[in-house]
Amino acid sequence: MRTGYRQRRIIIAGIFITFEGIDGSGKSTQIALLKRRFEELGRTVVVVREPGGTALSEKIRTLLLDHRNQDLCERAEALLFSTARAQLVHEVIIPALERGDVVLCDRYAESTVAYQGYARELPLDEIITTQEFATYGLRPALKVLLDLDVDVAASRLLGSYADRMESAGRAFQERVRQGYLKLAQANPSEWLVVDGSQPVEKIAQEVGSYVEEHIITDS
Ligand code: ADP
Ligand code: TYD
Repeated sequence: MRTGYRQRRIIIAGIFITFEGIDGSGKSTQIALLKRRFEELGRTVVVVREPGGTALSEKIRTLLLDHRNQDLCERAEALLFSTARAQLVHEVIIPALERGDVVLCDRYAESTVAYQGYARELPLDEIITTQEFATYGLRPALKVLLDLDVDVAASRLLGSYADRMESAGRAFQERVRQGYLKLAQANPSEWLVVDGSQPVEKIAQEVGSYVEEHIITDS
C-alpha cells in the first residue's frame, strides 16, 4: 500500500482508507457499506471514528465536543484532535494494518487540516506538519471525500444533537467544505471525490468499484 509510515520501517500488509466530509455528508453510512463489501471478499475490517477509538482518545473526544468548553483556544483544539489521533494510530490503526486488516476511518488528518486549518484559519503549513508528527507519517491508501452542500447536510441532521463543533455555524461548515475541495484538487491522485447528494446505494457502488479497481489490486 502507499504509505508514508517510516518510523518503524515495517511492511504494512493491510489497507487503510479514510472518509472525509462535513458533518452529515454520509461518512458513517458509506463506511458501513464498504465494510460489508470487504467482508464479502473475506477481509477482516476495523472501523474507527475520530476523535475517539481508544480509551484515552474517547476522553479527549468528550472534552472537544462538550459545549461547556467554549474557552478552548484554537491551537489547543488542533493539538487535542491531533493527540487523540496519535493515540489511535499507535494503539489501533498500525497494529490492525500489521495484522493485514482493512482499516476504515471516519475522519483522519485531513479533518484537522479542513476544520482547524481552513475553517479556523490556523496556519496551514503548521497544521500539516503537526499531522505528519501525530500520525507517525502514516497516510491512507485512499481518502474518500463525500462532497455535499452545507444546507443539505444540515437538513439531514435536523433534530439530532449538535455538539460544540457542529454548532460552529453555516459559514464555518462552508469553509470546511471548500477546504476539503482545495485539498483534493491539490492532490487528485490521493482522493476520490464523490457527489454526496446521490442516493446511498449509488455512492456505495461508486466507492466500492473504485476501491476494487484501484486499491485492492495494489495491496
Ligand atoms: P456523517 O457520518 O458524515 O455525519 P451519516 O452517514 O451519519 O453522516 O448521515 C447523516 C444522515 O444522513 C443520516 O440520517 C443518514 O441516514 C442520512 N444519509 C446518509 N447518506 C445519505 C444520502 N446519500 N442521501 C440521503 N440521506 C443520507
Ligand atoms: P462527530 O460527531 O464525530 O461528527 P461526524 O459524525 O460528522 O464525523 O464529531 C466530530 C466533530 O469534530 C465534527 O464536527 C468534525 C470535528 N473535527 C474537527 O474539527 N477536527 C478534527 O480533526 C476531527 C477529527 C473532527
